[in-house]
Amino acid sequence: MLNASEIVKEIQKRYKVIGRTEELEKIILARLVNKNILIEGEVGVGKTRIAKAIASYYDTNFTRIDCSEETLPHNLVGYFDPPLVISKGYLEDSYIYGPLASSMLKGGCLFVNEINRMPESTQNSLLTALDEGILEIPKLKTIKAHEKFFVIATQNPAAHVGVTVIGEALKDRFIWINLGFQSAEEEILIIKQEAILNDSNGDKIAQISQKIVDRSRNHTSIRRGSSIRGAIDLAQLAFKTENIKSTKNWVNIAIMALYNKIELEDGTTSSKEDIIAGIVLSVLNKADFQ
Ligand SMILES: Nc1ncnc2c1ncn2[C@@H]1O[C@H](COP(=O)(O)OP(=O)(O)O)[C@@H](O)[C@H]1O
Ligand SMILES: [Mg+2]
Repeated sequence: MLNASEIVKEIQKRYKVIGRTEELEKIILARLVNKNILIEGEVGVGKTRIAKAIASYYDTNFTRIDCSEETLPHNLVGYFDPPLVISKGYLEDSYIYGPLASSMLKGGCLFVNEINRMPESTQNSLLTALDEGILEIPKLKTIKAHEKFFVIATQNPAAHVGVTVIGEALKDRFIWINLGFQSAEEEILIIKQEAILNDSNGDKIAQISQKIVDRSRNHTSIRRGSSIRGAIDLAQLAFKTENIKSTKNWVNIAIMALYNKIELEDGTTSSKEDIIAGIVLSVLNKADFQ
C-alpha cells in the first residue's frame, strides 16, 4: 500500500499535475475515509484537471455532468422513456439511467461540474445518495450504491457576483477543498506543458504569457483578471507567430487571447484593447526580449 504522499507523487506523475501537493494530500485523506469532495476555486485554477486525475486514479469509471440552471432532477437521476413505458410498462428496460444512478450502480466517480449552478430541486435529489448511498427511483427500485461510488463536485467561489451557492443541506455532505492561484513558477510549468512549447523560445514565451496574465489580475481597472487558460492560449498563439520579437504582434495576440477572459471595473473609461496593450507593453519593456 502506498502512503498518502506516495499516492500524491504518483498522481502528479501519471496525470501530469503540476504542484498542488498539499491540496492533493487533503483529497487523498478525504478519500481514505470515503468522503465526497467539493473543490472550490476561480475559473481555470485546475478544478476539473484535479477532479479527473483523482477519479482516474481511483477508478476508470468517470461520469461527468456539467450543471446549469436547466439541470433538472431527471438529468441527474434518469427517467422513464414514455414510448418504452407504453410498450413495456414501468420496467428496467424502459428506464434511462442518468449519471447519478449509473455511477452508483457501476461504482464510479460522479463528477458534478459547477454544482452551484443547479437548481435546488436537483440538489435535493443528491442528498440521500451522498450520505446513505441510496437512491429511490419511484416505480422501479431503490439503488444501493456500489462501495466504490463517490462524488467530486466543483464550484466557483461563493463570493463571486452572480454566482448562486449550494444549499446548506448539500454543502453539509461534502469535504471542502480550496484551490487558489498557483505560484508563478508553477504556472510557467503548466503553460509550457499545456501549450506544448518545445523549442528554445518556449521558456521565454511561457514567462511572458504568465506575466501578462498575472498583471491582468492585479490591474486597478480590471475586476476579474485572466485565468491560466488565457496564458495557455496566448503562449500557443505566440509559439505560432512568425515574428514574436514584434511588440505589435504580442499586443494583437494578447487581445485575441485575453479579451473574453477579463472583465473591467465599472466606470473604466479606457477600452479593453488599450488596457491589454498597456499590460503587454509594460511586461515586454521589462522582459528584455527585443
Ligand atoms: N496543476 C496543474 N497541472 C497541470 N495543468 C493544470 C494545472 N492546473 C490547471 N491546469 C491546466 O489549466 C487549464 C485550466 O484548468 P481546469 O482544470 O480546466 O480549470 P477549472 O476547471 O478550475 O476551470 C487546463 O488546461 C488544465 O489542464
Ligand atoms: Mg472546469
